[in-house]
Amino acid sequence: MRETVHVDLPGRAYDIHIGPGLLAEAGAYVAPLLRRPRVAVVTDATVAKLHLEGLRAGLAEKGIDSTALELPPGEATKCWAQLEVCTDWLLSQQIERGDIVIALGGGVIGDLAGFAAAILRRGVRFVQVPTSLLAQVDSSVGGKTGINASHGKNLIGAFHQPALVLADTAVLGTLQPRDFLAGYGEVVKYGLLGDAAFFDWLEGQGPALAAGDMSARIEAVRRSVQMKADIVMRDETEQGERALLNLGHTFCHALEAATGYGNRLMHGEGVAVGCALAFELSARLGLCSQEDPSRVRAHLRAMGMKTDLRDIDGDLPDAEALVALMGQDKKVVDGRLNFILARGIGQAFVTDDVPRDAVLGVLRDAT
Ligand SMILES: NC(=O)c1ccc[n+]([C@@H]2O[C@H](COP(=O)([O-])OP(=O)(O)OC[C@H]3O[C@@H](n4cnc5c(N)ncnc54)[C@H](O)[C@@H]3O)[C@@H](O)[C@H]2O)c1
Repeated sequence: MRETVHVDLPGRAYDIHIGPGLLAEAGAYVAPLLRRPRVAVVTDATVAKLHLEGLRAGLAEKGIDSTALELPPGEATKCWAQLEVCTDWLLSQQIERGDIVIALGGGVIGDLAGFAAAILRRGVRFVQVPTSLLAQVDSSVGGKTGINASHGKNLIGAFHQPALVLADTAVLGTLQPRDFLAGYGEVVKYGLLGDAAFFDWLEGQGPALAAGDMSARIEAVRRSVQMKADIVMRDETEQGERALLNLGHTFCHALEAATGYGNRLMHGEGVAVGCALAFELSARLGLCSQEDPSRVRAHLRAMGMKTDLRDIDGDLPDAEALVALMGQDKKVVDGRLNFILARGIGQAFVTDDVPRDAVLGVLRDAT
């Protein structure tokens, strides 16, 4: 049960391997990339306990020596202080231009370690070994790396494509249910933005997938990654089409800022709520039928996911304050908010022509 998706970027092409048992075989995949048999692994403490030894054994199998840094788990790690810890450590391990850094973990580790690799000695290559569903379907592919700033999420970063991605679907088995479902928010996003048949499939297969069905998990990761790879190949640096991958994110980033990037709202949960709000907004603007947002919400609810602002624990700022938080988003161009809206399930498009009142109305009604 193995799938491979190829990202064919000129001079920066790489493969994404998907399937169970890849950690144990990591050495065979990584060895051809190495100039000397030694790698530096960056991970978080939770993932380290569960999967670091498995990866190191897989590397040792092909004679690759590894050294590892364990950072604290959680979104707060995507910060300047931990970036400094990480780059200092890589330098202390004498990682050279020709060496490889391995990011073993969820999107937080992938984004941080990838950015550290992008700036270390003006750029060293890195391998993504994503361990969360979110990282396997989204953040490990496409080369966006970075950290959060006090002004907002992901505002400091670089495009730096990985040299290889190993998505071992067996490691998803150790995720907490909440972390798994947060990643599922990004899976649903792919169906909603560009593949109605995939959304239909998820409506049928979602429960089995969440319950652990391996072939359903592989298929969900493969289809998500293929769609992301196709978009990235056409628009690597987000001059146009790649922005579609931000469906739900304008709402999500404001909600993450409002909840302090903490445990109240995980990124993937915010994406799911944001997708539901984007469809609601699209319906109110007459772009899609009212049945579409209802169908989106029904599926998210059936999966036990957060769907509305009222599902987020604790108080939220009012609608005006949330719209103000959207103003810090990277998707602001010339002061105008860019939204991803939809003409139906699987038919998303980018627009900066959204009346502020309509956004306020959707937010007021969602609380
Ligand atoms: N670069 C991109 O293109 C991109 C795309 C989407 C999201 N992101 C970023 O990804 C981040 C969110 O990623 P995430 O949801 O993976 O968060 P995360 O890295 O914090 O992982 C979530 C939790 O799951 C734990 N975990 C990871 N793998 C595990 C496993 N196999 N078993 C048990 N526990 C495991 C982690 O320790 C953490 O506590 C956000 O910062 C977001 O901005 C980046």
